[in-house]
Amino acid sequence: MIDLAEAQPRGADFTLPTARAPRPPTETAELSAEILVLKRRLNAVILAHNYQVPEIQDVADFVGDSLGLAQQAASTSADVIVFCGVHFMAETAKILNPSKLVLLPDRDAGCSLEASCPAPELEKLQATNPNFYTIAYINCSAAVKALSDVIVTSGNAEKIVRAAPADRDLLFVPDENLGQWVMEQTGRPMTLWRGNCYAHVEFQRDQILRARAAYPDAKIVVHPESLREVRQLADAVCSTERMVTFCKSDPARRFVIVTESGIIHRMRKECPGKEFLCAPVFDVLRMPTDTCRCSECRYMKMNTLEKLRDCMARRAPQLDLPPEIITQARVPMERMLEISARA
Ligand code: 13P
Ligand code: SF4
Repeated sequence: MIDLAEAQPRGADFTLPTARAPRPPTETAELSAEILVLKRRLNAVILAHNYQVPEIQDVADFVGDSLGLAQQAASTSADVIVFCGVHFMAETAKILNPSKLVLLPDRDAGCSLEASCPAPELEKLQATNPNFYTIAYINCSAAVKALSDVIVTSGNAEKIVRAAPADRDLLFVPDENLGQWVMEQTGRPMTLWRGNCYAHVEFQRDQILRARAAYPDAKIVVHPESLREVRQLADAVCSTERMVTFCKSDPARRFVIVTESGIIHRMRKECPGKEFLCAPVFDVLRMPTDTCRCSECRYMKMNTLEKLRDCMARRAPQLDLPPEIITQARVPMERMLEISARA
């Protein structure tokens, strides 16, 4: 069978993710043991995004959101960074650590947001207003970062927009939903690029209303990449890392999580005794479902434990970037880390 995820170019819009056959637990244990041996041999650190499959999260040194991963990449003393996420995240690690070897399990793991904003198109828009101050969501290419004044993640976007120069016209790329949410929080008008996360815009208001009616005791936690009509129904709107913190500290016992389903693994591990339901909660036949794959990011799920082992064994694929892009993209990345660290 052709694996569609393998066959399509990075960033292309394709149809359904293919089903994964479950791997026997002994194989998972053997692969994980191999990965840990390779990790010691390479003096590597394994960084994994919250949306990675559970077995990758379980062998990683750090699992977190885009902000936490960028901070880890900036401060690691390892010789090799193995990045289990999507391509732009591995690029971010390389920008922050140009002298280190950055490996990624699948170089075709793209992102619909990154694909929506080609650097030449951004340059054309920037040329229409010399007073633009470009704020780029980290979900974009290194070339777009190189054209930007500051980078944000969903965890610090509000803080960074509040710190933006008052006399500049703000241009926010590429996620119009996150941008709209930040405008609502800060009151700062911004010109928004018309990009979106294909996975988060799938969540619909009626699905959330149905979940609310069926589980009135549950708190609804929504990622800001979601549509406004969905965000408006939330008890909390936050990045994946803050979602974990919120669910840990909130007294509720049950939560409906409106983001990519990979985060549920961490929540179940870190919040024992609480119940996590992954949106949309009900399938098309309106039956409760815990196995619906429509909340999976097909790009994040291109990484597997086998591909992780192989990239470490072969020291490939490696992430490389032109030195001039690294130099230019590093400036807004470091500005982000500096503003983010402010009290
Ligand atoms: P965070 O990691 O900032 O929560 O963003 C989620 C996401 O879509 C990453 O691609
Ligand atoms: Fe991109 Fe959306 Fe996947 Fe995140 S979840 S990597 S924003 S497509």
